[in-house]
Amino acid sequence: MQTAINHYPYEKPSLDHMQQHAMHVEQQACTLQHAWAKVPEPLSAQQQQHYQTNIKRLLKEKNAVMVAHYYVEPELQDLALATGGMVGDSLEMAKFCQTHPAETLLVVGVRFMGETAKILSPHKRVFMPDLDATCSLDLGCPIAEFNQFCDQHPDRTVVVYANTSAEVKARADWVVTSSIAIEIVSYLHAQGKKILWGPDRHLGTYIQNQTGADMLLWQGSCIVHNEFKGIELLHLKQKHPNALVLVHPESPTEVVVHADVVGSTSKLLHAVMEADHDTFIVATDQGIVHEMQKQAPNKKFIAAPTAGKGATCKSCAFCPWMAMNGLKACADVLQHGHQEVHVDDALLERAQQPIVKMLDFSATYQHVKQGKPLDLSGGKDAYATWLVEQHHAKRI
Ligand code: 13P
Ligand code: SF4
Repeated sequence: MQTAINHYPYEKPSLDHMQQHAMHVEQQACTLQHAWAKVPEPLSAQQQQHYQTNIKRLLKEKNAVMVAHYYVEPELQDLALATGGMVGDSLEMAKFCQTHPAETLLVVGVRFMGETAKILSPHKRVFMPDLDATCSLDLGCPIAEFNQFCDQHPDRTVVVYANTSAEVKARADWVVTSSIAIEIVSYLHAQGKKILWGPDRHLGTYIQNQTGADMLLWQGSCIVHNEFKGIELLHLKQKHPNALVLVHPESPTEVVVHADVVGSTSKLLHAVMEADHDTFIVATDQGIVHEMQKQAPNKKFIAAPTAGKGATCKSCAFCPWMAMNGLKACADVLQHGHQEVHVDDALLERAQQPIVKMLDFSATYQHVKQGKPLDLSGGKDAYATWLVEQHHAKRI
């Protein structure tokens, strides 16, 4: 099957274009450049075959499992699935890493995903193709400044996005991903809590608008989603009036307002599988289109625009850090045991608590949503009672 990539009118962003962003995010300039420089060269079919065979053998030998995000290269997603691993959004990856019996995890995504896996399963060995694969949200939220921000607002409950360092998570009361953020913040809001949110200002604004919660926002953003343009999206929608518009909530509000579906990568994928539409405009990293096209081979996917006339590219929707992952590096780390994720024991213990809370909340939410009975006696967490009430009121 031809991959979805060939169907799009986009180009990978040039280094020059990314450097323009870097001027605004001075601290990251070097890191962005470094990331694009480390994106592996495309492999020949023969080389791909060679590394795929090696990785399959090494995964078996090491009793390891490969866990990938939807944004990494198609051949990595396919290999994770073909070897009994998984491809998913960041919440699904965390759950899979925590519950899978393999003692060794190969996490193919960005740094916070590998760290989360390690924090949830300290006894497992966690490897990544390249530990330098970070995230602009993580980079834009250094712990010293974030601590100051929290210290200035001790009356607020600290809720942080999973796209953060272990140190920032350790400072938080709750960690959330985009697939469970609204539900958790709704619960906290219903308890009368005021929230300090970090680091993504767009996701924070979206949650605030959806829940009405009092949220003080750290001003971070994702360099990939921040590029989508509202006015250009509107023009594209007018050209394709029957298309369903799918938007990840890390995008600016001017983009989110034109969406038919807003949600995590998995939610956007499910929309493709469930909707009757045959055309979709996709405002997120275009890596996800590989799985979308596999699930719906006859449907058409159009990349949401990232720039107006005269810009260097029409859609630069690729995460440079996700693109750093490659087959050769996967084979190398499994072979040589380098690029292992380590988190200091004391830090790990503190960072684990808000992540485990999120996973427990998410499991209880799914349980209640499916109408399954829940035993509320014996000191269940307060949110269990609230979730049951919400279900009875038909709000979930
Ligand atoms: P998801 O949790 O939706 O997969 O998002 C992770 C991410 O980094 C999006 O840019
Ligand atoms: Fe981070 Fe954005 Fe890349 Fe996701 S797409 S990992 S939020 S930089």
